[in-house]
Amino acid sequence: MTLERSFRARPLETSLKAPRSQFFYATCMPVEIDRVLPPTLATDQPITALAPMQDVTTLPFMSVVADIGSPDYFFTEYFRVHVQSRLEKHILESITRNETGRPVFAQMIGEDIHHLKRTTLDLLKHDVAGIDLNMGCPAPTVYKKHCGGGLLRDPEKVDRILGTLRETIPGLFTVKMRIGFEDTANFDTILDLINKHQIDLLSVHGRTVKEMYRSQVHYDCIKVAVERADCPVLANGDVSSAVRSREIVDYTGAAGVMIGRHAIRNPWIFSQIREYESSGSITPIPLREVFDYVRSLYKALERPWVPEKALVNKMKKFLNFIGQGVDPEGKFIYQARRAQSEVELFGICETFMLGDDAGNFADEPYAGVVARPNCE
Ligand SMILES: Cc1cc2nc3c(=O)[nH]c(=O)nc-3n(C[C@H](O)[C@H](O)[C@H](O)COP(=O)(O)O)c2cc1C
Repeated sequence: MTLERSFRARPLETSLKAPRSQFFYATCMPVEIDRVLPPTLATDQPITALAPMQDVTTLPFMSVVADIGSPDYFFTEYFRVHVQSRLEKHILESITRNETGRPVFAQMIGEDIHHLKRTTLDLLKHDVAGIDLNMGCPAPTVYKKHCGGGLLRDPEKVDRILGTLRETIPGLFTVKMRIGFEDTANFDTILDLINKHQIDLLSVHGRTVKEMYRSQVHYDCIKVAVERADCPVLANGDVSSAVRSREIVDYTGAAGVMIGRHAIRNPWIFSQIREYESSGSITPIPLREVFDYVRSLYKALERPWVPEKALVNKMKKFLNFIGQGVDPEGKFIYQARRAQSEVELFGICETFMLGDDAGNFADEPYAGVVARPNCE
């Protein structure tokens, strides 16, 4: 059975508060499944994960990141779950055609228990490291349907969903959540449900749904989650560099970090974390390597049926973030946003990244250089 194979085939070295559970397969024989997180790249270091990002964490992006320096875990962007939903092909290929060698957790978003279960069973036919439930998306179109961050208003429903999915998933079942909807009134209750249903890994984005993406991150709430949850917790939100990662892990006690926008800007961040954790320093990235990153991304995203103009526009989404580390005045972003063709775009990249005076890429985003768009 695929289910059993995909979970049991994984190596079991890294054991982090891993529970065991019994499941009964068609033979009616109880089968012991070790619910153990997949091994990380560096032992005794914080876990690193690339945060799920819609239209960003596709297979091409994951592959480019892996070539530069993989995180320990990948998460897919969310599979939408509703009455008519089917697994979206382009998201599925980030699992089925993934050659990064790193575990991929499949994320779902939805509120209909029957269809969440159906989608889970479909996903479990593939080589997923685990199933992740989105309880954080702040898009009004999503939360108004009681999905994503909208679930945080309804602990009873969360209880039922987690209960059903826990019964359905023999292997790793993970959750990604924010600290509340409007406030943190339900936070403790939901953390208790995380424990009740033996969630295996919890990623906490330290903002409420209403705070969207730009407010200060409430690392104190992530610390509360670490103290209250029985499972390992990943701290998420503005983990902007290897140094910040260490500070956040020290402060919250989290088992690791999940990084989104700052990994678009700086895909070296995962290897820099490993370097910083082992040596206390980070090798600077010359801007000419950033040029190679942009080039690889362009090549990876190219498809025969995608017109050049559309691809250039798609690249701007990434360059908005990358540009935060290129020049302190934001001139690169300003010019790149106006590029109309591949030649024009790479001409701008050459000027800023390959010129004689091109220095190093900034470890932290330059203050005042803002990336847009900024949310899902
Ligand atoms: C463009 C974009 C798309 C996102 N899509 C998803 C998603 O599909 N699922 C999810 O759980 N979070 C999604 N998020 C939220 C991120 O996973 C992450 O929680 C958030 O960006 C905060 O982390 P960061 O400061 O490291 O970016 C998205 C964020 C961005 C910027």
